[in-house]
Amino acid sequence: MNIEEISERLGWLPSPVAAFIEKRIKKVPALKKLVDAENEKTMQVLENSLKPYDGKFDKHITLPSEGINREKILNDIQQMHDLESVRWKEGYVSGGIYHGDKEHIEFLNKAYALQSQSNPLHSDLFPSASKFEAEIISMVAHMHGKGQTTDNAPVVGSVTSGGTESILCAMKAYRDRAREEKGIREPEMVLPDTAHTAFNKAAQYFGIKQVRIPVTNNYTANVNAAKSAINNNTIVMIGSAPAFPHGTFDDIKALSDIALKNGIGFHTDCCLGGFIVPFAEKLGYNIPIVDFRNPGVTSMSVDTHKYGYAAKGTSVVLYRTEELRHYQFFTATDWPGGLYFSPTLAGSRPGALSAACWAAMLSMGEGGYLRATDAIMKTAEKIKAGIKQIPDIKIMGEPHWIIAIGSDTLNIYQVLDRMTKKHWNLNGLHKPACFHIALTLRHTQPEVAEHFLNDLKEAVEYVKANPDTKEGMAPVYGMAASLPFRGMVSDILKRYLDVIYKV
Ligand SMILES: Cc1ncc(COP(=O)(O)O)c(C=O)c1O
Repeated sequence: MNIEEISERLGWLPSPVAAFIEKRIKKVPALKKLVDAENEKTMQVLENSLKPYDGKFDKHITLPSEGINREKILNDIQQMHDLESVRWKEGYVSGGIYHGDKEHIEFLNKAYALQSQSNPLHSDLFPSASKFEAEIISMVAHMHGKGQTTDNAPVVGSVTSGGTESILCAMKAYRDRAREEKGIREPEMVLPDTAHTAFNKAAQYFGIKQVRIPVTNNYTANVNAAKSAINNNTIVMIGSAPAFPHGTFDDIKALSDIALKNGIGFHTDCCLGGFIVPFAEKLGYNIPIVDFRNPGVTSMSVDTHKYGYAAKGTSVVLYRTEELRHYQFFTATDWPGGLYFSPTLAGSRPGALSAACWAAMLSMGEGGYLRATDAIMKTAEKIKAGIKQIPDIKIMGEPHWIIAIGSDTLNIYQVLDRMTKKHWNLNGLHKPACFHIALTLRHTQPEVAEHFLNDLKEAVEYVKANPDTKEGMAPVYGMAASLPFRGMVSDILKRYLDVIYKV
């Protein structure tokens, strides 16, 4: 029996039983050999796509004995950039590049270049970095309810390196607050199945138990399940606005009210929505209030490097109060290296990225974000209407601009494969099987929506006519989703990371 057959036949196994069997398999040498051989096959499929520059550019395994000519170095970087930007420039990529206009990128690069030596850790040397960050936080806080809360909440924050770090910082703050103020030693977080896996990372890093609750048929948090999951160890509840997989919004009002009643924190993960939701609301789109105007919301993550159109590497974590933010900060008072304090996970940080983020926000202004949001929402309407006209596929839940597509009749991963063959770079999802496209400004260019819909229609027709095709990534996706032995899948992912680091 090979791995695909194992997943087909044993996919129904409850996870504790599968984990038990998996441990046993690892102890039987013959079975372990079979598993390793199967892993090897899967790795080969993955590896082939990872090293396209082998043989095309010089390899540098050790330091060159003398420095290479700068022009040659820049030329190589330029060539790789040119090869890689074709797909995203033309709008073939889901998410990834959120703005992408040449002039915008050149402007951010100039701002970066002017501040490339800046380090916010040394606020005395680089007061400009503190100015940029304080103003970024203030602008983002005002976009999310600062000045409009009934309790006159100060709404403060930090600039971090991305959504994951914002989430890590917030979860650490809740853990430390609960330990200090309530003596909770075995903290738990309550979150929907669809909440970003950065919360899983936070749980692993900070020793917090995840209590994942199911989502409804519409892929939004089951509010009753969330309520029932709270106990004396619960430190925080989480909702997404929207969630990465299906682009759907959890009921932030209901969930945060429950959190408030139970005296626990509530985090709105607005990494994807932070620079769309406030503007969509102003434009009159039917979009819920997910920010600090809900009295129970105590923190938020808002990614400037997504729809804020900053360069990659910045996000903002917001807190309702300074007291809560204090639990995020790190200070060391007895180190021989002197008094030390740093707000987030990193020590030294790239002040240039904060400068470029500040520049992006100032150059867009509210008007720029309103126009960008309107264009994305209108493109989303067009694409959703087009998908509804294609038989055999369906939109998962009721999304706004991140649209997941599934099927009750076709192998949706084969459709995804066919789209990949047509140059699209979309996100494969599982549990249930589907894929999504996160619309960005790249997709608002003329003809891109029509192109997507035509290719999707053709892909669906192709899969209907050729349902038994066994090539491409479809079998890997299918196996990865249904293989009951999750440790095996995790091992494959770790080996994939090893391959990334191979020279
Ligand atoms: C809803 C949500 N939260 C958090 C993250 C993590 O963000 P990052 O990849 O910037 O760390 C993402 C990333 O896509 C996301 O979609």
